[in-house]
Amino acid sequence: MNKLPIAVVVIPTYNEAGSIGKMLDHLFTETFPGIKDWSCKVLVVDDTSPDGTYKVVQAKQKKYANLYLSLSAKKSGIGGAYVRGFRYAMKELGADVVIEFDGDFQHPPKTIPLLLNEIADGYDYVLGSRKIKGGSNPKGWGFKRLFFSEVGGLVARFVLFFPTKNFFRITDPTTGLKASRVKEFVDTMDMDHLYSRSFGYKLEFLYKMVQLGAKIKEVPLRFYARTAGESKIEPQTAKDIFRTVFLLRWFDPTTQKFLKFGIIGLFGFVINKVGLDTFAKLLSNLISVVGIRNTVANALAAEVSIISNFILNNLWTFKNEKLVWGTKLVRKFTTFNLSSVVSGIILPSLVIGLGTQIFGDQYRFLFLIIGVFFITVPLNWFIYNLVIWKKR
Ligand code: GDD
Ligand code: MN
Repeated sequence: MNKLPIAVVVIPTYNEAGSIGKMLDHLFTETFPGIKDWSCKVLVVDDTSPDGTYKVVQAKQKKYANLYLSLSAKKSGIGGAYVRGFRYAMKELGADVVIEFDGDFQHPPKTIPLLLNEIADGYDYVLGSRKIKGGSNPKGWGFKRLFFSEVGGLVARFVLFFPTKNFFRITDPTTGLKASRVKEFVDTMDMDHLYSRSFGYKLEFLYKMVQLGAKIKEVPLRFYARTAGESKIEPQTAKDIFRTVFLLRWFDPTTQKFLKFGIIGLFGFVINKVGLDTFAKLLSNLISVVGIRNTVANALAAEVSIISNFILNNLWTFKNEKLVWGTKLVRKFTTFNLSSVVSGIILPSLVIGLGTQIFGDQYRFLFLIIGVFFITVPLNWFIYNLVIWKKR
């Protein structure tokens, strides 16, 4: 018979003496016997809880061979505990799947086989969601906790994923119940540089898994009220989560690229303006008809700004896809130049012309804004990314 794949249920604990013993008994005597296709292990990650949680675990280790304990002298935060736990599960326990699971019975143990079934079906990241049919929050939650949970979830979804399909697909981004595939996911994920070692790590792991291309599935989570011990969520937890989410978005490579693209675009506009004045002055003795002179002057200035945009984007925005001197660069520059004329001159000019013709000349500036921000900027962004500096 083939060896069964290994699932490690990782339970971080801090002062959970009131529930951990019962939880371990429940997992080993009721939950795991019903799971036939997996070899299940439990890893408790405790920070030497003052209430002696680890002593309860040590006592249970005499009874359950597949029970492990990672004990640290320092309080590491829930995120820090999971990083330690995941490393231990991969290195020492040969985990194929790691499950994030709370030790306080708020996560129903009977969801564990459901998570594993989805992994067996080919999903890489299975999330317990309180927001889909069959999932729910505890009845007793006060307005404040509910508010933070709802708003926090929505902000996280929006900031991290809008407008991609994950914005609609991931309904409960702060959920604490998850199963993650190890191979090519947890084992490739960077856990050394985290913005948060507290509850914000949840969003960080989620973001990283999405970026690694995990196939994601949600299963309903009925999140129960605590029956023993206390929640470790603090007033600053909401702040920690928002901070993590914004840092993830800000330092995302695409955000950074877009910012550079924007700065260079703005700079190109300045060059165009300065160039227009300079060329108009230089040509003042050569061309006497003002209209023709300004047309020529602006064409020259626009060309200078197109060239500078190309060079700066090549060296800075798209330095990872940088084009080096050669026929390919000449070809790409020709495409860039043509598309810049279309997206930056012809199309916005048509929008301004048509808009003012229909709605009146007083809307000239409005149509300039519409032309630039709704046509030039998005069109350039897509052409740069998908054509000129296309990733291999
Ligand atoms: N080792 C260790 N160190 N464990 C910790 C620490 C820590 O610093 N902080 C919390 N834990 C453990 C707790 O003992 C518990 O077993 C688990 O992590 C979850 O912590 P709770 O304090 O029970 O969190 P919660 O129930 O309020 O929050 C739950 O719901 C949130 C969504 O609303 C968790 O599942 C969160 O992960 C989830 O985001
Ligand atoms: Mn809890």
